[in-house]
Amino acid sequence: MDTPEKHCKIWAVGGGKGGTGKSFITSSTGTCLALKGSKTILLDADLGGANLHSFFGLNKPRYSLADFFEKKIPLQDIMVQSGVANLGLITGSIGSLDSESINFAQKQKLFRHIRALDADHILIDLGAGTHINTLDTFLLADRMIVVTVPEITALENMYQFIKSVYFRKMKFIFKTYDLNTTIQDTWKNRASHNIRSLKDLITHLRESSEYIRDIFDREISGFVVHIVLNQVRTTRDILVGENLKSACMNFLGLKVVYAGYCRQDEAVHENINNKEPFLIFNRISPVVKEIKTLTDNIITGTHLSVRKDLVNGSLSQIL
Ligand SMILES: Nc1ncnc2c1ncn2[C@@H]1O[C@H](COP(=O)(O)OP(=O)(O)OP(=O)(O)O)[C@@H](O)[C@H]1O
Ligand SMILES: [Mg+2]
Repeated sequence: MDTPEKHCKIWAVGGGKGGTGKSFITSSTGTCLALKGSKTILLDADLGGANLHSFFGLNKPRYSLADFFEKKIPLQDIMVQSGVANLGLITGSIGSLDSESINFAQKQKLFRHIRALDADHILIDLGAGTHINTLDTFLLADRMIVVTVPEITALENMYQFIKSVYFRKMKFIFKTYDLNTTIQDTWKNRASHNIRSLKDLITHLRESSEYIRDIFDREISGFVVHIVLNQVRTTRDILVGENLKSACMNFLGLKVVYAGYCRQDEAVHENINNKEPFLIFNRISPVVKEIKTLTDNIITGTHLSVRKDLVNGSLSQIL
């Protein structure tokens, strides 16, 4: 029989900018999965500013990831019930520990323990920024999700986040397959090969060697970043997701999935302040359906059908 860890999918939710709705999206997609009957665990890895418990009206739990690292308390014992059936929560609230002080071996150990938890889905809420620990945790996940709002500063930060993650992934690939010398030699002669970017470099290497092409195909095929736009106000905002898709393809040669969006809705803010889990206490907000759509799209790796939504008029409700 398969062990639970074979089925367990780890989701990581990140993005460059603070306050875009990472924790809201993590708590809501997690609730959505739990309501579907999947055993789900939320892990708050925003070590400096853990607040995922607040989205469920909970006080700060007694134990946190610091106790896992420092006192070797098993994750299962750190987990508390969120109040939603099938949904547990592990908090990252840290006193003496910060994200700078966790090394790669500790992160790998944490992931081994996470994968051994009895769950179908484990969702990790990352803090803002592109700290190396955040990037590495993001890269270790099976489902990578970035959340942004459709504002120029947030979009820039998100693009920078995706780029940093992609570069870090490439660095791992080059190291793992002992390609560093080949890369450096090619880069030294980049002018003669007309190479001006990482995308050009990858294209050149793929074309010059079947061996390297196979490595990239294998390693990059599973590298899928899902974009979620939050707090959208207009149809134009929704289309920003399409532009992000094109930008990642054109400038990085990277395929991303635009999984969905959530509109700006005062009800979200109210539920948080009232200590009510949004999806449990709010059945009428259009955001509920939007969360369900984006969760399904992330599970299946499906692009949001923006054109279909535009044609059937469901987007016009926002205008
Ligand atoms: N769709 C939405 N509609 C209205 N308000 C929203 C929506 N999503 C999030 N918010 C508001 O934005 C605030 C910030 O959201 P959240 O805490 O999820 O952001 P975050 O990206 O996790 O921030 P941080 O980087 O600080 O961890 C929430 O407290 C909520 O009031
Ligand atoms: Mg947060």
